[in-house]
Amino acid sequence: MEQLRFSAFWWGTIMFGSILLEQKMASSMTMLKLKRLCKFCDVESTSCTGTGSCMTDCSITSICPHPEDVCVSIWRKKDDNVTIDTICHNPAHKLHGLVLEDYNNSKCEMRERNGMGSQFFICSCSEDECNDHLFFTPYSLDSQVVSVILVSLVPLLVLAVMVITSFYWYRIYHQRRAGVKRKKTPLDFSDAHAIMMDDDGSDSSSTHANNLNHNTELLPIELDAQVGKGRFAEVYKAKLKQGATGAGEHFETVAVKIFADEEYASWKNEKDIFSDADLRHENVLHFLTAEDHKVEKQYWLITAYHPRGNLQEYLTRHVISWDDLWVLGGSLARGVAHLHSDHTLCGRYKVPIVHRDIKSSNILVKGDLTCVLCDFGLGLRLDNSLSVDELANSGQVGTARYMAPEVLESRINLENIESFKQTDVYSMALVLWEITSRCNAIGEVKDYEPPFGKVREHPCVESMKDSVLRDRGRPEIPNSWINHPGIQVVCGTIDECWDHDPEARLTAQCVAERFNDMEHPDKLSVRSNSEEKIPQDVSKLLMPPAGEADNYKQPSS
Ligand code: ADE
Repeated sequence: MEQLRFSAFWWGTIMFGSILLEQKMASSMTMLKLKRLCKFCDVESTSCTGTGSCMTDCSITSICPHPEDVCVSIWRKKDDNVTIDTICHNPAHKLHGLVLEDYNNSKCEMRERNGMGSQFFICSCSEDECNDHLFFTPYSLDSQVVSVILVSLVPLLVLAVMVITSFYWYRIYHQRRAGVKRKKTPLDFSDAHAIMMDDDGSDSSSTHANNLNHNTELLPIELDAQVGKGRFAEVYKAKLKQGATGAGEHFETVAVKIFADEEYASWKNEKDIFSDADLRHENVLHFLTAEDHKVEKQYWLITAYHPRGNLQEYLTRHVISWDDLWVLGGSLARGVAHLHSDHTLCGRYKVPIVHRDIKSSNILVKGDLTCVLCDFGLGLRLDNSLSVDELANSGQVGTARYMAPEVLESRINLENIESFKQTDVYSMALVLWEITSRCNAIGEVKDYEPPFGKVREHPCVESMKDSVLRDRGRPEIPNSWINHPGIQVVCGTIDECWDHDPEARLTAQCVAERFNDMEHPDKLSVRSNSEEKIPQDVSKLLMPPAGEADNYKQPSS
């Protein structure tokens, strides 16, 4: 029973998924459709007898007014008056009260329709001028076939609906019973032990599907200390109680992001972005559930907790090694590349997402020093449902310090979704610079400073315009940094990612591949320890991967 229930669920999911995919493909096809040529004489007398095949003798070929239009011919006989209509028609609308069913045909196959007040044949088809040559099919045979099919299908359909409904109710019943048994854990986080990322960096929860708490019952959560504060919400470390045992109450550590009533829009946006299960990735914050705390007038997002905190805090407190830089930078690029990608790691279609507020304080550091992207309050799903309003309001968002030049001057190309990704890549370049500035492989390491100034000062858009647009300024990459071969590649990459021209920037995927192509950093750090040990062909390490040579530039100094 359990197995059947499970397979029915997946069968439903696959069907639903494929329907969505088909709809998607269909909608993109519509955008490419050319207008059709059809015979278009309206009503004319004809010598067609309504049997066999004949030509309309219509001499007018017209370009249909709408791209959806198909060609239609209607043959009518009233008393001795026999006529043919040749027209264009949008099959989404009824014609003489009839739905066009055969418009995908390449031939116009005339079928008789009863109850039209005269002898009436109609056909529709989707090839240029296909309504000129008409093929008559007798009504009775066709309707018989349809009735036979219907009669044999109906019981099957009824049976399928009954089976699916009973599985559905069984599932609900089963879940309710399980809920009663576990009273204190209304959501089944069966792998909840991995919700808190330990210092060993293991993240076994990455296989856990993103959830939405559809239960009205809230999770048993006890808030602990505040660990972060953003523009729209505060973040707390919290205990997720896992039920009382003999050994006392067991709990898991989670992070709870709390939005005040007025910040509903931000909560909703982040919740909607997180609810896309395809967002799951080891370099994206692991989302558990969203809750509406009606009584307190608060909205919560419950996620994994990372005790190392955000990247800005981490870089402030630590000088890092080249190995650390490689891990932090590579994982950051992989996270952004996944976000931007239109397919999952297993190749399934996914909606590309842009973050629009990438900065070191919106990136968390896991125990193994890999990064996870968080704070999707300004994120945008680049799907077909993107409304004109959403696009129009998407001009200047984010944090001024990290805004790309085209965002600062509100000149982002809204017609090309790649433009949004390019602004994320610019911000990512600034974060890569921050990481590099704290790496001991650059030589003397100064105290942490964010790009373009001090942490406490928050530059406004106007002052960032002066630095980034008027002066074309970027954070400094001193010559001394690029003595290390790996750092040289990273700095070259940063330089290409913060290019003034958005189109000239690398993609996040390309940056991830650059890090990957450096292979294990040990090789590079060993070489960099001693100049003499650098082999002759070290230049290979400094060159971009094959196929990228065209857009590779020497790092600016
Ligand atoms: N600050 C913001 N979100 C956090 C999280 N999930 N874990 C730890 N610190 C955070």
